[in-house]
Amino acid sequence: MTSGLRKGLTSYGDAGFSLFLRKAFIKAAGYSDDALDRPIVGITDTASDFNPCHGNAPQLIEAIRRGVMLAGGLPMNFPTISIGESFANPTSMYLRNLMAMDTEEMLRAQPMDAVAIVGGCDKTLPAALMGAASADIPAIVVPVGPMVVGHHRGEVLGACTDCRRLWGQHRAGSIGEAEIETISGRLAPSVGTCMVMGTASTMACIIEALGMSLPYSAAIPAPHAERLRNGEASGRRAVALATSQARRPSEILTPRAFRNAMVVLQAIGGSTNGIVHLAAIAGRLSQRIDLEEFDRIGREVPVLVDLKPSGDHYMEHFHHAGGVPKLLKELAPFLDLDAPTVAGGTLGDYLAVAEEVPGQTVIRSRAAPLKETGGTAVLRGNLAPDGCVIKHAAATPALLQHTGRAVVFESIEDMTTRIDDPDLDVTADDVLVLQNAGPKGAPGMPEAGYLPIPKKLARAGVKDMVRISDARMSGTAFGTIVLHIAPESAAGGPLGLVRNGDTIRLDVAARRIDLLVDQAELDRRAAEPRAPRHAPTRGYAKLFQDTVLQADRGCDFGFLTSEGE
Ligand code: FES
Ligand code: MG
Repeated sequence: MTSGLRKGLTSYGDAGFSLFLRKAFIKAAGYSDDALDRPIVGITDTASDFNPCHGNAPQLIEAIRRGVMLAGGLPMNFPTISIGESFANPTSMYLRNLMAMDTEEMLRAQPMDAVAIVGGCDKTLPAALMGAASADIPAIVVPVGPMVVGHHRGEVLGACTDCRRLWGQHRAGSIGEAEIETISGRLAPSVGTCMVMGTASTMACIIEALGMSLPYSAAIPAPHAERLRNGEASGRRAVALATSQARRPSEILTPRAFRNAMVVLQAIGGSTNGIVHLAAIAGRLSQRIDLEEFDRIGREVPVLVDLKPSGDHYMEHFHHAGGVPKLLKELAPFLDLDAPTVAGGTLGDYLAVAEEVPGQTVIRSRAAPLKETGGTAVLRGNLAPDGCVIKHAAATPALLQHTGRAVVFESIEDMTTRIDDPDLDVTADDVLVLQNAGPKGAPGMPEAGYLPIPKKLARAGVKDMVRISDARMSGTAFGTIVLHIAPESAAGGPLGLVRNGDTIRLDVAARRIDLLVDQAELDRRAAEPRAPRHAPTRGYAKLFQDTVLQADRGCDFGFLTSEGE
């Protein structure tokens, strides 16, 4: 049974008076008793001038509201924090848990029978879903959708894989000042989320695979009319969820749903951030993402989606090729199709609507995959006792087995100051090591893992090198880059013991990353006194520093997980 405005009437002890007061105040906004006596669907309003990715949120919310009303419910928008990647200092990851707390508490505080979650820019959907999972009220995710592609001198451009590639060419001197300015106006030609298989697209795809959004929700371009119809349909569906009070997040986000999501994450060559966010969402429901299982899935499941940065195309092409439903159909043997979804049935129903698009090459068949194995591998070794990841689908194959000399940067600032120094002792065969850029170290685990190629090497034509860190990397980036090393250096992890000139061996086939220095020497280094780290003394920064978990636990705050540690 839905409870509408009656939900959570405890504030004044006298429930009758509390309801009377609520009605009196909401009527100030012009609502009638008829309007108020209905299931209430909250809609998270994540529009912000600082978040152009959510620029279509107002129209999308209008469509969701229409759907809610057509189905006999009352839509109620409410704002939550909005996190736009390029405007989130020090990092968007630092703010994700704040948004999750905001969303969870507003879902608990305000009377609503279900919620439609609007978002899309990288951290926003994971944050809101973490909050909804903890509050456990019926929820449906409505992504804002990807941007359409840009064009420049006959070339198709996409944010932000091509941002990095073209900026790299600018650094190397082959694109001048005027042209790079022109390009900056063409990389992101519409509202919506980055249209490569970056973190935003990755999260939208795996959320659809989790069964938390309607079929096709992930890939319909943001400016398309179909996106609004998806919003309207999601609004209608939210009323059904509100009325039945069935299919709460805890009933949908089960171990089999997470396994399905991991299959899709591998098959799309998705962002490495995806596994961190999945771990965080799972942690809200007494579950742990098993990194070994993720790796095993990756050995079986091929990359089928031909999107940048692993492939060639963009999200709108993925959509026109059949989107997530078509992908799920190809992946059927790997999936648990009985998993329930917000649409009311099972994941199997998503396959049933999959459209066949003759001649499309964006979603490959299992017989002709883009890559034989999945996008991401999990490595361990004496450098990463609790694991780390590499997106080998977007790496240079020849570097996947590589032994090289360490060139160490002790912090992001150190890296920024010295990486382009013409006197830096570095060759293309070296391994670039970045320390103190993990969850506690930076703080907030910034996307600094994509260390730039030192300018003098870039100018000499070097396109890729082995780079390792406890940081993250944008899902839109390309390179032989080992990330999320846990435990991080700032938490006493062995990455912090690496010194210039040490030898590091990367062996992706063997799933190993090792520092070839004997243990006695590492023990000696570990015993050396360390410079005291600056520790925040107040506010959110202190909360973050004191309670953030390592990458393998999703970088959630320990006390926010269902285990509450
Ligand atoms: Fe918002 Fe890429 S910056 S999705
Ligand atoms: Mg990103």
